[in-house]
Amino acid sequence: MAKRDSFASGLGVLAAMAGSAVGLGNLWRFPYLVGTNGGAAFIIIYLAFVFLLALPIMYSEFIIGRRSQANVFSAYKVLAPGTKWCTVGLIYVLASLFIISFYCVVGGWTINYFWKAITFQFSVADTSVLGSMFNNTVTSSVEPLVYMLIFLGATALIVMAGIKDGIERYTKIMMPVLFIIVVVVAIRSMTLPGAGAGLEFLFKPDFSKVTGNTLLNALGQAFFSLSIGCGTIMTYGSYVNKKENIAGLSAETAITDTTFAIIAGLAIMPAVFAFGISPAEGPGLVFVTLPYIFAQLPFGAFLAILFFFMLFIAAITSSISQLEVIVSYLKEEFNMSRKLAIFLSLAVIVIFGVLCSLSQGTLADVKIFGLNFFDFFDQTSANIFLPLGGFFAVIFVGWKMKKPDVVDEFTSGGTRKLNKFFVNFSYYSIKYLAPIVVAVVLISGLI
Ligand code: PFF
Repeated sequence: MAKRDSFASGLGVLAAMAGSAVGLGNLWRFPYLVGTNGGAAFIIIYLAFVFLLALPIMYSEFIIGRRSQANVFSAYKVLAPGTKWCTVGLIYVLASLFIISFYCVVGGWTINYFWKAITFQFSVADTSVLGSMFNNTVTSSVEPLVYMLIFLGATALIVMAGIKDGIERYTKIMMPVLFIIVVVVAIRSMTLPGAGAGLEFLFKPDFSKVTGNTLLNALGQAFFSLSIGCGTIMTYGSYVNKKENIAGLSAETAITDTTFAIIAGLAIMPAVFAFGISPAEGPGLVFVTLPYIFAQLPFGAFLAILFFFMLFIAAITSSISQLEVIVSYLKEEFNMSRKLAIFLSLAVIVIFGVLCSLSQGTLADVKIFGLNFFDFFDQTSANIFLPLGGFFAVIFVGWKMKKPDVVDEFTSGGTRKLNKFFVNFSYYSIKYLAPIVVAVVLISGLI
């Protein structure tokens, strides 16, 4: 069998993992969920979940992936031969498929808005005009599909190039650029007159509005934003060599992702309040309010171009990780070429993507469990599949794998000196803390 592709350096692994984590989840989904779930209280609950769950679940996925050096399905076959554990792998494949199906639609919007920015279409500083611009953009039947296909095509090209020459090479350049741009926008937003109300919304909690649904949304968002529970880290981990530090890479990814989410909040909310826009605007928040803000700022046209370019970059470094989960599964499990695996995956994703896109307009009235296609794919994946996928990963590492094997992964085969307390603490968080928290929130949220 040909040698499996792999990452060339630790920095490359970090860029790819952080690239997967930082995406539309931080810059589009997080701000609008904060806006529709009451602000600071949601952020605090979200951060609590990140703090409690991010590391145990990331470690577990990483350990399963690296130890098995296999795709999400075979990983369980390698580590627990002759058991039914490998069916869990299918949850990840399905979750990734569901996510990329609506993600590519929003990815298409980012390209569309980038185009609008470079052709200076945001010169009207009127929210109703920009609101109907967003509405027309997403509800029309054909145009969003074209942009969605461009987005998927770009994703496929990077994944086609493989790990070292595709994913690693591009994310290493894109991530730092992204960070610089988002910081520039945040500084501009926070220095607007009237920005204080936005900061208050972000930092002064009102827990009276918290419901079971808020909890479930915060849990789903934590999983979604960190790219955990859908096998991305497991898949990337399978391309990582034994030397790399699982604990360090996971912590760096979680910190980067959370920093981006907070800075995205700082970039968007102060401006939303400064211009008297409703934070509960929903999925259009970034697309309606920011162009409005850009239209009134000095160098706004330039900032708009940078911002939508950045949103596109953030989206694509995430969508490649979603696609890679599916592609590596098809490629290895059915022994097909990378090209064919990509082609087959795209065939299904395009069908789902078309449904999600049309559900914004033509198919708005078609509902599954009361949700249109877009919301169905979004909510079942984030709020159900990802928590389930994460739950099974920690249960597997905590209860099925042997502790010495887990420690062996943490210490890179005994070559890395790690504090004993740290290793034990991590192990018991995997074994008890993470599964209990996920199970309680998932069950209470669903009830
Ligand atoms: N973490 C990505 C974001 O915040 O946009 C979304 C995502 C990527 C979710 C990869 C799941 C995944 F496997």
